[in-house]
Amino acid sequence: MNPIVELVQVEKRFGSETVVKGIDLAVRKGEFLTILGPSGCGKTTTLRMIAGFERPTGGEILLEGRNVVDVPPYKRDVNTVFQSYALFPHMTVYDNIAYGLKMKGVPMAQRADRVKEVLRMVQLEPMAGRKPMQLSGGQQQRVAVARALINNPKVLLLDEPLGALDLKLRKQMQIELKHLQQRLGITFIYITHDQEEALTMSDRIAVMNQGRIEQVATPEEIYHYPQSKYVADFIGETNLLDVQIVSRTDSGIVLDYAGRKLVGKLGRNQTPTDKMTLSVRPERIRMAKEEEADWPFALPGKVEEVIFVGSFVRTIVRLTDGTQLHAMAPSQGKAAFTAGEQVWLGWEEADGIVIGA
Ligand SMILES: Nc1ncnc2c1ncn2[C@@H]1O[C@H](COP(=O)(O)OP(=O)(O)O)[C@@H](O)[C@H]1O
Ligand SMILES: [Mg+2]
Repeated sequence: MNPIVELVQVEKRFGSETVVKGIDLAVRKGEFLTILGPSGCGKTTTLRMIAGFERPTGGEILLEGRNVVDVPPYKRDVNTVFQSYALFPHMTVYDNIAYGLKMKGVPMAQRADRVKEVLRMVQLEPMAGRKPMQLSGGQQQRVAVARALINNPKVLLLDEPLGALDLKLRKQMQIELKHLQQRLGITFIYITHDQEEALTMSDRIAVMNQGRIEQVATPEEIYHYPQSKYVADFIGETNLLDVQIVSRTDSGIVLDYAGRKLVGKLGRNQTPTDKMTLSVRPERIRMAKEEEADWPFALPGKVEEVIFVGSFVRTIVRLTDGTQLHAMAPSQGKAAFTAGEQVWLGWEEADGIVIGA
């Protein structure tokens, strides 16, 4: 199927600074795609180019196969929801939503039908007569989405739309927005710097770093098979070790880490070189008080701290070379290890992902 939105080598320069450095991205019809990256990496600039508020200094932006670089925003079948959704405070919910159609000169009767339809979509029919002040943060957010949906866009662009909400409401709205998107079947291009939000909501995530996209894949793929050190570190929590390849086996790799043997497996699309990085998730590390005979390897260390975090216990272990590793295990009433204790650490071959350093 042809992508609904396609970016081909899109570049944006502001003066001498290049903030978007040749991005390729194909967004499928009906998908929830998230652009995830830290503040300043070029997410908003990318979205503004798709919307038409910024012109790329290089490359092409295709909407349904047509290059729209020279098409003004209002003639593109896309609409944007911004973080500061800036509802008109003196207008009712109804009028806030109807505003765009009114400006376009859509007749009142037709306008009323469409507003009712959109109000139903975001489940705000009973609130039509209220002013934004009389709504909760989540409801205001829904008005902002309704306002963007009024023109029936093919693609909705959302720039950190939940950024102003407190954590609990944000989590609730994440699920709500995701359901809305699934119900409507509209393509969402969503921006966030919050990796958990991206993992929760997206069909696919594009991880952005300093104006480049480092990986585009499903949340599971990104989490389990990061293609770069940056992605491994940015998504979820991980332990990174500098390793060297000793030999390859049928299923994985034998590695040298500071003179000790350990095992892992080459990540997707990785080329083995002299210096590699091994990424192992805290929940994949196992610990024992004695060196276990059936483990493929074991690293000795000393427990430095045991932190109870509710459903999990975090154990920080210092290896003999000084490196700290974090392990997470479900809490079981009583901590299995105590600070100062000598322990052995290990993991399954498949859980040590080896990527370029
Ligand atoms: N109009 C502009 N003129 C000059 N620099 C800009 C402009 N807009 C954004 N930038 C710069 O581009 C970089 C990326 O910004 P932005 O796309 O807003 O990042 P993000 O949304 O990921 O936080 C930043 O360094 C920012 O200062
Ligand atoms: Mg931004």
